[in-house]
Amino acid sequence: MPHLLTSALPYANGPLHLGHLAGAYLPADLYARYLRLMGKDVLWVCGSDEHGAAITLRAKKEGIKPQDIIDKYHALNKASFAALGISFDYYHRTSAPLHHETSQDFFRTLDQKGGEFIVKTTEQYYDPEYRQFLADRYIRGTCPRCGYTEAFGDQCENCGSDLSPTELINPVSVLSGTTPVLRETKHWYFDLAKHEDFLRTWIQEGTVDGVQVHDPTTWKKHVIGQCMSWLNEGLQPRAITRDLDWGISVPHPEAEGKVLYVWFDAPIGYISSTKQWCLDHGRDWRDYWQNPDTELIHFIGKDNIVFHCLIFPAMLRAHGHYVLPKNVPANQFLNFEGDKFSKSRGWGIELHEYVEEFQDFPNGEDALRWALIRNLPEQSDADFTWDGFTEYYDKDLADKLGNFFNRVTVLTHKYFDGRVPTTGAGSQVQRQLRDTLATLATHFEAFRFKDAATTFVELATYGNTYLQEAAPWSLAKADPDDPRIAEVMYDCVQIAAVLALTAHPFVPLVSAKLRTVLKQEIVANGDWAVARDLLASGRPLIESGHQIGQAGVLFPKIVDRKDDTLKNIIQRQRDKLVAALAERDRQVAPTPTPVAPTKTNATILEAPAAKSTIEFDDFTKLDLRTATILTAEAIKKSNKLLHLTIDLGEGEQRSVVSGIAKHFEPADLPGQPVVVVTNLAPRKMAGVLSEAMILMAEDATGKLAFVAAPVGFGNGLGVR
Ligand code: MF3
Ligand code: ZN
Repeated sequence: MPHLLTSALPYANGPLHLGHLAGAYLPADLYARYLRLMGKDVLWVCGSDEHGAAITLRAKKEGIKPQDIIDKYHALNKASFAALGISFDYYHRTSAPLHHETSQDFFRTLDQKGGEFIVKTTEQYYDPEYRQFLADRYIRGTCPRCGYTEAFGDQCENCGSDLSPTELINPVSVLSGTTPVLRETKHWYFDLAKHEDFLRTWIQEGTVDGVQVHDPTTWKKHVIGQCMSWLNEGLQPRAITRDLDWGISVPHPEAEGKVLYVWFDAPIGYISSTKQWCLDHGRDWRDYWQNPDTELIHFIGKDNIVFHCLIFPAMLRAHGHYVLPKNVPANQFLNFEGDKFSKSRGWGIELHEYVEEFQDFPNGEDALRWALIRNLPEQSDADFTWDGFTEYYDKDLADKLGNFFNRVTVLTHKYFDGRVPTTGAGSQVQRQLRDTLATLATHFEAFRFKDAATTFVELATYGNTYLQEAAPWSLAKADPDDPRIAEVMYDCVQIAAVLALTAHPFVPLVSAKLRTVLKQEIVANGDWAVARDLLASGRPLIESGHQIGQAGVLFPKIVDRKDDTLKNIIQRQRDKLVAALAERDRQVAPTPTPVAPTKTNATILEAPAAKSTIEFDDFTKLDLRTATILTAEAIKKSNKLLHLTIDLGEGEQRSVVSGIAKHFEPADLPGQPVVVVTNLAPRKMAGVLSEAMILMAEDATGKLAFVAAPVGFGNGLGVR
């Protein structure tokens, strides 16, 4: 059964950062490496997305040709991926002739089928000065949904709405800065609405024409949720052509000067990438794309869900013969030190920067992979911090994994000259290893890579604990010939062998080192399956008599009492952030406040990133004070509201209406310390005056808690 994996083709219009890596590439790499270890037929394709307005606009800004932009970033991104162990089978590019042909064929097939395209002449914005129609990012204006003034013609980056240029309020041409005029033009639309019923059944039931093709309960909830909200709003025909001079020409006699919309050709890039790999390897691309046994998985970030779960599947269906994705395990977003990645604000780190700046960091590539894996935005947004990076490296890799290898190799050398001792088989450890492999496999197969990483660390912990409790050094002291010494060391070598093998998907370079320490060959395809079968038949992964090497210190710690070398590499990163913050402050306030380059300054920003930034002055407008609830009673007309009186100290009392009735019993509330906003304009709710607002915290399950100072803390003071 072939496994066909795809990762979103990144635009070749700039460098990629850690957020991209964590979204669509690292998870796919984990999955691909796991499947290869299982001996599966895996093909993982990707490549550069080289069309679209993002590229032409960038070229224009830099005064160079689009071709220069794509050549530069195609090479840079490809090299960064390689440096970080991202093991695509093929990294293609959409400027390749094979891709142009494949996309044009696809268009022609849909066109000739009839009924898939709608051809319409409509009025669209046009910039007379530049003699160009303004689609997508060529036009900006105010978002009709949220009022954001910098929305693009295709999308509002503030509220995430999908827009069309004519919906924008106060549209402005990005080219000339002038107000555009309306002009008629003809375009081809893919009739997505026609496929709505098919999509709904496929997403909800996992069936196509009554045949079960996937199990929807294995899809992430946020992915299905996003699809259903699109479906429930009703799907509209999507324009798939553009009036641009950069892109794939539309193969139609009446479409002169028009190109395919980038989102029409880019996903077809998965097919052309496959074709190229197959040409190079003497395989037939149809064995992947047109084989009902193929398991197709799209790895993407959440901003690409609609394209991969609705539009592209509908295109494949309309074309016919193609397999549909078995799953689309889209990830949420990764933030950086509490805020969105932003090149212009100097916030974040790009892949090639990391590779350069961590050159001297031991196992630097894997240190990054590991920190990202431990904190993948699998179900909700996540935040990358240098503190987290340090902790995952020191605690997991140095303290647990590195330490275990060091102890096991030292002791095996001490008691048995580095030879795996002979012992009676059938231990409890053997069972543990079998279970761990099975648990890991389950997590990998369900795209739960964070859980897989936890299981991996738990195995290292298990090894350390086992060694500590068995204490062969004590046994040796009492009786150097105690047979239990051999048993313990034999077991520990087997644990080490499973660690070295299963480290491979997570930290491939480290895995190679661990295998070298154990004097085993570097992992090869199928090794996991072999190990699983050996353990199942009660055989060891490393035979008695096998000579192992010495581990030494594989992971020198970052937080080391004697040596600051590694800490300094990370401190340089924090310094950059402090500088970025100072720059931000400088642009806001005319007199800069110098910020001391300490670690706390950088991490102080760890606030949820969902809302847009406000100024300090905005924040200081709030009058926050501590108070105590005096009385609480239900409000008859409402099942949500409670009427409270609160004591702000010094005899000041206020009436407050609070929407917490479903969470708290009035009788439990008197005496509860709270924090309140006291200068919110008073208003009446359910006929009762409310003169302050109580701050609450909410957890992921929707449970509420009071935000408060400890009981007995003086009332009425400002909160700082
Ligand atoms: N270039 C797009 C982005 O970065 C992703 C394209 S995915 C593909 O958002 F399916 F179209 F290839
Ligand atoms: Zn908006």
